[in-house]
Amino acid sequence: MATERTFSIIKPDAVEANNVGNILAMIEGAGLKIKAMRMVHLSRPMAEGFYAVHKERPFFGELVDFMTRGPVVVSVLEGENAVVAYRTLMGATNPANADAGTIRKQYAKDIGENAVHGSDSLENAGIEINYFFPGYELG
Ligand code: CMP
Repeated sequence: MATERTFSIIKPDAVEANNVGNILAMIEGAGLKIKAMRMVHLSRPMAEGFYAVHKERPFFGELVDFMTRGPVVVSVLEGENAVVAYRTLMGATNPANADAGTIRKQYAKDIGENAVHGSDSLENAGIEINYFFPGYELG
């Protein structure tokens, strides 16, 4: 097994609902280490750049509106197979399909307001970490 880093966002819906602490507790409870963390209110260009891969999707405008409506908590998580471990902990993108015990089952409202984001591959984890955290902030 390999130690990996992945990138997480606790989204505006979860921050508004005071679920940051509960979600961080689930992350730590799953054995993932928080290596860097910051609260930030994304600008539209920041959100559009982060989700550029989705820019042709019909929900892109709605996604950017949502992600910029309030602060988010961005973090770098480290652990064994962190990319898959965090995606498993998050549960399915649509909370209606999320397993019991996952973050989205517990805290997500719907496929748009789904509480958390996690990188979908090791390669994207590297890109997403670099987008928010300059190297000097990471040990
Ligand atoms: P995330 O893991 O952050 O990656 C892309 C995001 O787009 C996803 O979580 C959802 O928040 C959002 N998304 C995906 N599909 C839809 C959809 N059908 N309608 C609205 N938002 C969506």
